[in-house]
Amino acid sequence: MSENHLKQNARSRVKLGQTNLEVSPVGTGTWQWGGAFYWGYGRGYTDEDLAGAYAASIEHGINWFDTAEIYGRGRSETILGRLTNSQKTLSNGSKIISAPLVATKFFPYPWRLHRSSLRRAQNASLRRLETKSIDLYQIHFPIRPRGYEYWLDALAYAAQGGLVKAVGVSNYSTEQTKRAHDLLAQRGVVLASNQVGYSLLNRVVESNGVLDTCRDLGVSVISYGPLSEGLLTGKYRTDNPPPLLRRLRWARKRLKMLPPLIALMNDIASVHNASASQVALNWLIEKGTLPIPGAKSAAQAADNASAMTWQLASDEFEALDEATNRYV
Ligand SMILES: NC(=O)c1ccc[n+]([C@@H]2O[C@H](COP(=O)([O-])OP(=O)(O)OC[C@H]3O[C@@H](n4cnc5c(N)ncnc54)[C@H](OP(=O)(O)O)[C@@H]3O)[C@@H](O)[C@H]2O)c1
Repeated sequence: MSENHLKQNARSRVKLGQTNLEVSPVGTGTWQWGGAFYWGYGRGYTDEDLAGAYAASIEHGINWFDTAEIYGRGRSETILGRLTNSQKTLSNGSKIISAPLVATKFFPYPWRLHRSSLRRAQNASLRRLETKSIDLYQIHFPIRPRGYEYWLDALAYAAQGGLVKAVGVSNYSTEQTKRAHDLLAQRGVVLASNQVGYSLLNRVVESNGVLDTCRDLGVSVISYGPLSEGLLTGKYRTDNPPPLLRRLRWARKRLKMLPPLIALMNDIASVHNASASQVALNWLIEKGTLPIPGAKSAAQAADNASAMTWQLASDEFEALDEATNRYV
């Protein structure tokens, strides 16, 4: 990557919450990397495609990846760790100057009852990621039997231990986010982010208070499922539904309602010489959030990253808002 290219990208970095970490407005999600059951890893796409997705993400200015210990039962972290460590040279022969940031997640399985579970999980993630510290360590869900406050305490402890640079939560409600922010602050730790489902087809965070609360607290909202698992790319229709389990999840009703929205997205995309996916991602950026589209190939990663090269006009943003009001 040339120095000019790096400088260009540096201009588009944003701070992750109130931390010192600087991330690109779009990150790459990696649930697909090793996720065979839901995503079909190993059938429609291979490790070679994922290496392409990784390299294309970086080449097009993305500087962070989101994974989790549960994705592919650790396989996503393993693949990402291998790539961040081996692929230090791009296809054109130039060097990647700085390693990308990695966000991963601890899953509070019901059989995990002690703080030491988080320490062990963290060490296992560090091993798989082949790294000495985790840039952003998130609690995946606020689930029982251990209350989420218990795990926040363990997370604060991990942050103070120096093996974690920033901490975040995921799928936290308004009240849980406020409590997490306050509990961590009491321990001198900053809550960097809340990772939630957010897209043109899922705008619940606008009505349940999560978006406003995070904005007020200076906590970044990381938007997962930003393409509604592929629906907002425009490639799926009732006569061409998504494969595998996504077909059951999204089939029929949602797909039937899609065409007018996709038509609007394509109209906007054509003005910017872009894709419907980029329109979906730009709308989330305009909402002040950090989308992390999952990518299975170099082409998908490059397309998604290109959302960072242009912006929606205000009337385009409003038209998208208007067209998807029913999903608030
Ligand atoms: N914290 C949580 O609870 C949670 C939950 C879910 C996800 N996440 C994170 O959020 C990330 C993103 O969410 P997601 O992966 O579920 O859904 P998504 O980003 O909305 O959709 C990803 C899928 O869309 C298709 N796609 C992506 N870019 C494309 C492009 N430019 N053109 C055409 N198709 C494209 C690919 O599938 P096909 O090609 O097969 O259609 C890809 O697997 C995950 O990878 C994960 O890191 C977190």
